[in-house]
Amino acid sequence: MSRKLNIAIVGLGFGSEFIPIYQRHPHAEMYAICQRSQDKLDAVGNAFGVEKRYTSFEDLIRDPLVDAVHINSPIHLHAPQAIAALRAGKHVACTVPACTTVEEAREIVKAARESGKKYMMMETVVWSREYLYVRELRDTGRLGRIQFVRGSHLQNMEGWPGYWEGLPPMHYATHCVSPCLGIVNGEAEFVSCLGSGRISESGIAKYGSPFSFETAHFKVRSQDVAGEVTRYLFDAARQYQESFDCYGSKTSFEWQLTEHDDPVLHLGGETVEKVKIPDYAHLLPEAIRPFTTKGVYDMSENVHLSFVQGSGHGGSHPHLVHEFVMSVIEDRPSFPDLHQSVNWTLVGILAHESAMRGGEKLHLPNFHGI
Ligand SMILES: NC(=O)c1ccc[n+]([C@@H]2O[C@H](COP(=O)([O-])OP(=O)(O)OC[C@H]3O[C@@H](n4cnc5c(N)ncnc54)[C@H](O)[C@@H]3O)[C@@H](O)[C@H]2O)c1
Repeated sequence: MSRKLNIAIVGLGFGSEFIPIYQRHPHAEMYAICQRSQDKLDAVGNAFGVEKRYTSFEDLIRDPLVDAVHINSPIHLHAPQAIAALRAGKHVACTVPACTTVEEAREIVKAARESGKKYMMMETVVWSREYLYVRELRDTGRLGRIQFVRGSHLQNMEGWPGYWEGLPPMHYATHCVSPCLGIVNGEAEFVSCLGSGRISESGIAKYGSPFSFETAHFKVRSQDVAGEVTRYLFDAARQYQESFDCYGSKTSFEWQLTEHDDPVLHLGGETVEKVKIPDYAHLLPEAIRPFTTKGVYDMSENVHLSFVQGSGHGGSHPHLVHEFVMSVIEDRPSFPDLHQSVNWTLVGILAHESAMRGGEKLHLPNFHGI
């Protein structure tokens, strides 16, 4: 078990936060980085001591020494780059969302199947400490039977660059869909969604999506559980929130209303208690444990080795790296696996389509036969 994977990271905004984690993972070699402009590529490469650098993604995936590619480029490139990397014989980790269309989702599954390589969507929420806490409640039987799941991702993205403006809210829904489907270890069967409100005319012009909010219900395939998710991206007054609630027959977990409070456990009847969520660093190799609490490098003034954030995405980054690397090393499905990755993304894609058709119920494709 001393094998090491040569990792290449594509996209060095959010992507650069993962460099120091791979550098310390016992089964990874932080081999190469890739982004379009040479100056930023060199700034990041020099700061972290990564020698192999590419400005061209196509050149990178031709490098036979690359075992796995971790994609952090803009949304519209996720699927095309993932498919090309799989077809070039590389394992793929890809930030959310996995794709933007049903056709892309099918191609990802096909490429992964045909190449025999791993594909994992790097969904931060299902490796956050809050999710790991609810997973522990589930696995120790404290939740009882899971009866209902609910998530929300409320974020005002006004002023964010280019491709975000006017984005249909459900096209970036994995942060609220994934914990709901993850906790029941499932995939969605069908979805129905309503759009609500109206954004600016300039925003609507970008993607033809008029809605401020989108709110969807979905049914879990082969289970008697349903879920509900709500998203907004523009023109509403609401503090940032990525939340999920899980209702069990014995215990329910509910997210706090504001980020400054703690989640609540409902223990039956009128009994409720606030919970302090523990850290789950002990699940990780020792060398990357610090990254659950201080894992984010400040990229704001070029690159410094200063830790800036107490809890980047719920401490999920080192867990994601560990899960991806070990799924390859141990040749086992990752969490989320290939099918969950595309299904959880497609819930949002089809939810938006449903909203555009006045709430029509749409079935998700089942790619297990591919
Ligand atoms: N919680 C999360 O899971 C989370 C958080 C932040 C961002 N993200 C995702 O990460 C992605 C990147 O976000 P960001 O804020 O860093 O975006 P960004 O636009 O700041 O950076 C994108 C990076 O991709 C590079 N790039 C663009 N085209 C490329 C190409 N053809 N080949 C190689 N590199 C290319 C750019 O040079 C840049 O380094 C987004 O798609 C977003 O969805 C996820």
